[in-house]
This record gives sequence, C-alpha cells and structure tokens, in this order.
Amino acid sequence: MSEEIHPGLEDVVAAETQISFLDAEHEQIVVRGYDLIELARSSTYADVAHLLLFDHVPSEEERAAFARQLGDHAHLPEGVADILRRLPSDTVAMDALRSGLSILAGFENAEVLADHSREANLAKAVRILAKSPTLAANAYRALHGQPFVQPNPGLSFAANFLQMIYGRPADAETIAVFDRIMICYADHELANSTFAARIVASTFADIYGAIVAATAALKGPLHGGANEAAARMFAEIASRGGPAAAEPYLLERLAAKDRIMGFGHRVYMHRPDPRADLLKADLDAIAARDPDAAAMVQTYEIVVAVMEREKGLHPNADLPIGLILSLVGIPIDLFTPIFLCARNAGLLAHVIEQHEHNRLYRPRVVYTGPRDRRL
Ligand code: ACO
Repeated sequence: MSEEIHPGLEDVVAAETQISFLDAEHEQIVVRGYDLIELARSSTYADVAHLLLFDHVPSEEERAAFARQLGDHAHLPEGVADILRRLPSDTVAMDALRSGLSILAGFENAEVLADHSREANLAKAVRILAKSPTLAANAYRALHGQPFVQPNPGLSFAANFLQMIYGRPADAETIAVFDRIMICYADHELANSTFAARIVASTFADIYGAIVAATAALKGPLHGGANEAAARMFAEIASRGGPAAAEPYLLERLAAKDRIMGFGHRVYMHRPDPRADLLKADLDAIAARDPDAAAMVQTYEIVVAVMEREKGLHPNADLPIGLILSLVGIPIDLFTPIFLCARNAGLLAHVIEQHEHNRLYRPRVVYTGPRDRRL
C-alpha cells in the first residue's frame, strides 16, 4: 500500500467520467463535450440540465416534453410543506433545503427508491430537479412567515424559480442573468459536493441520500457558501462608505490572514475562472442601468484588483454571483440554496454515472495516533 498522503486529495484522480472536466490549462470548463461558457451564452438552464442528464441537447420535441415533466413534478407533497412550516425560525435556509430533500425521499415508493437502474434514477432525478426550487424558495418563505408560492409550470425554469422567490413575476433581464448563473453553476467536475455525492452513491445508497450529502457539503464557506460570504463582504464595504472603503477593508483582512471568500480555487488557484469573466459583463450591464449598482460594481473592480496585486488570486464564480444576486434583490440566505438547485443537474448526472460504473470509495490513512494503550 502506497503511504503517500495527498492532503485535501489535491491532484488525485478519483473517478473516470463522461460528464465534465476543468481544463485549467486552456481555461475551459467542458460539459458533455461543450464549452460551459458557450452554453451559458446561448443556451437555457433547462437545456443544459437535459444535456447533463441525458447526454444530448434536446430536440424541440424533447425540450417540450422535458419542460412538461419539470412542470408536472414541481409541486411539493403537502406533508413536506407542513414540515417546512414547523421548522424553528432560526433554521438556515440551506439546512431547511437539506432536510426537505431528505424528507422527499419518503414520498418515493420504497422499491423505486432502492432501484439504481439508469431508468429509475433518471425518473427520480427529474423529480428532484423539479422540486428543489419549490423547496428552496418556499422553505425560505416558511422561515420568514411568508405565504407559499406555488410553481407555475407555464414559465421557464429560471422564471418560475424567481417568481417563487420574489412572490411576483421577474423582469426579462433578471430572468436572463439568473438563467446564466444557473448554467454557470450547473456542473463543475469533481467539486467537493460532487465527490460527497459520489462517495455516498458508491455504497449504493439512494440518489436522495447522495444529494443530501452534497447539499451538506455545498453549504460550507470554502465551497458554495462562498457566494453568501462574498455578498456579505460587499454589504460590509458598502456600510463602511463604498468603493473608497474597499482597499483599506481588504488590506485589514489580509493583514489578519483572513480568507477572502469568492477568490481562489483548488483547480485554478492562480488562473481566472471563466465563469467569473463571463458574469462580469452582467455586472457591467446592471451598473449601466442602475447608478446605485454602479458603486457596488466599482467596489467589485477594486476588490478584484487588490486581490490580484496582493495575493495573485482571481475571483471564482461565487464573487460576481454573490454580487449579482444581491443587486437583483434576492435574500442572501437563498444564494447557496440557489447554487444547489442549479448544481443538481450535474450532481444527479454524477450519481447516476457512479451507480452505473460503481466501485465503493474506501481510502486508507496513515495512522499517527498511539497504540497499545491499556484500559
Ligand atoms: N483569500 C486569501 N488567501 C487565500 C485564498 C483566499 N480566498 N484562497 C487561497 N488563499 C491562500 C491561502 O491562505 C494559502 O496561502 P499560504 O500558502 O500563504 O498559507 C494559499 O492561498 C493556498 O490555499 P489553500 O487553502 O491551501 O488552497 P486550497 O486549494 O485548499 O483552497 C479554496 C481552495 C478553499 C477554494 C481557497 O481558495 C479558499 O478558501 N477560497 C475562498 C472560498 C471560496 O471562494 N470558495 C469557493 C470555491 S469555488 C466554488 O465553490 C464555486
């Protein structure tokens, strides 16, 4: 047995996949053979989710059928809605989503739940994908004493999600940028949460359990929680006076050896994240429409420049996404749940692939503790 340790499993290849790949050298995120950035520019989230799950971009007919399926399954069982209403009001929205996903497993027939065939898994995947936005938006509503908003199957995936969040229809520009964000989040190779899902799936635990594990992993601030932390940082800088406060704020935090959330990435630590570059154009468009937003975007540019100068670090997707979601008026607690709902497409595809080509994950340790102790 090799005793070479790779802390954080850095550079360890742990799976063979046909789903996605970060080609850091060429600054490309490959999803089912396509460039994710190109998909984000010219596709829709529902099409990308179809691509991830079924391995091809849908035809017109398939697109309509997939939209119908997502619409048909978007409702929550009444039992789940009841439980959401009983959660302690201090519950974090991401935890409510995680618990809700776990409860949803109980609404599957036990045989269907235990069936790991591709066909059964795909059917469950569509249900999870469809219900998660309803769960995320309404869990937040329940925690804040707001009335539930039922899904509207006539709307696009992004428009329906936003309507449940806002409690009113969203405008076309917000729907477009939200859809692009969802695509940017749709899959990202073997991210920590994806690995967590694959580890759980490798025991032949069911697809819900794997997604619940991924949700738990995604919450952490070193992973999906970074979009909420980034948004809080922008709010803090604004409260200290806006763009002029950005540099002193960052220098103070760097001097204290703090991590600045929304910067750095295990795979492309000192290279740009192509998603962040793409979404900067959306920030510019928002700034052009709204003078209040313009000051926040100026702060963003200062933060990016200082981090590059001081640490040689580039923004990851969570930095622009944290700011964009704030600027379009979405509550911060929903940012990581939104990430999960978008990442679902990739996570579900990875769980299905794991079940189809499974070998149990079970690594070893180098034991450094004592031995031969006696009671
Ligand atoms: N702010 C300040 N310093 C940083 C940051 C950061 N965001 N990221 C890395 N560094 C520094 C570390 O302090 C360390 O410096 P040192 O060698 O002087 O101690 C060095 O860079 C290497 O950092 P590690 O933590 O060893 O690298 P790792 O690959 O484990 O980190 C991670 C990757 C966790 C993403 C890190 O960059 C980080 O904490 N970023 C902030 C959280 C974040 O934005 N997460 C989102 C990731 S992307 C996503 O989920 C969409």
